[in-house]
Amino acid sequence: MIPGTRGPLGTAGPDFMASPTAQRMALHRAAHQLLDHPKVLDDPLALEVLDPETAASLKADPRQSETSPLSPKLRAYAAARSRLAEDQLHRAVAAGVNQYVILGAGLDTFAYRSPYPPDSLGIFEVDHPDTQAWKRKRLALAGIAIPPQLTFVTLDFQRQTLAEGLAAAGHDAGRPSFFAWLGVTPYLTPDAVRRTLAFLAGRPAGSGVVFDYAVSPELLDATGQAVFAALGDWTRQAGEPWLAVFDPDKLVPELHALGFGQVKDLGQAEMNQRYFAHRADGLGVGTLYHTIVAWV
Ligand SMILES: C[S@@+](CC[C@H](N)C(=O)[O-])C[C@H]1O[C@@H](n2cnc3c(N)ncnc32)[C@H](O)[C@@H]1O
Repeated sequence: MIPGTRGPLGTAGPDFMASPTAQRMALHRAAHQLLDHPKVLDDPLALEVLDPETAASLKADPRQSETSPLSPKLRAYAAARSRLAEDQLHRAVAAGVNQYVILGAGLDTFAYRSPYPPDSLGIFEVDHPDTQAWKRKRLALAGIAIPPQLTFVTLDFQRQTLAEGLAAAGHDAGRPSFFAWLGVTPYLTPDAVRRTLAFLAGRPAGSGVVFDYAVSPELLDATGQAVFAALGDWTRQAGEPWLAVFDPDKLVPELHALGFGQVKDLGQAEMNQRYFAHRADGLGVGTLYHTIVAWV
């Protein structure tokens, strides 16, 4: 049994009341390292950041992570969205951006394996205080050093503005930044999502964001709706209900209206074409989530 999972897809574990969904996505990224060849996301810390019991159990039998027929698609998605964020970050850095802000970071490991010299890219990990405290405990236990260029920021998106949180942490709002906001918008109210998007759209030219969202279920086919219901049940039982869903045809114009210039919406076909073409194992993402790349 993989500890640290709960709800219909797993079994309750003691360590992370903080964010079961963050643990679940980290588990998928770790399983991806063991199960999928070629890897879409090469993350040598993905297993280390898990608690030792979970990591050992996963190494002994990686297929344990497949607790439902949805698991391979979720694993593919967990890997692909992080890869997309890192690919777009590279583009931003090449264009001179030197601040990277990871919103709702969960157990994201980029900061601890960044290929950039510490003085060339400042990294901010923003998360709910409970999740961040749990992550910091995990990092300490795993012996993963906190790099000098990383600043932790605690913030509740429902109660505080990102502007306040980042300003207090020393983020320079006058310079462009690149933001990753992965797997977070479904858990916020639509208003809180829009407030944050407005803040991101108001960053200096050259700033960008990769974020994802759950597609309104009425836009999915019957299979997609069944998957949406099953996953929605799991997150609700895990204490993190989905609160916001979006229609791509409305969200993209909304982002332009907020001030983003380039906006690219990647659904199932685009993600699979970009990261899973010509694979022998048939791995690919599902229809539930879309990912957006937007530049100011
Ligand atoms: C599904 S996890 C995604 C984590 C990480 N981005 C990843 O891709 O693995 C959801 C994340 O959103 C954060 N989150 C949810 N609601 C939040 C809120 N109101 N304020 C701040 N963070 C929140 C959780 O703490 C958690 O880190």
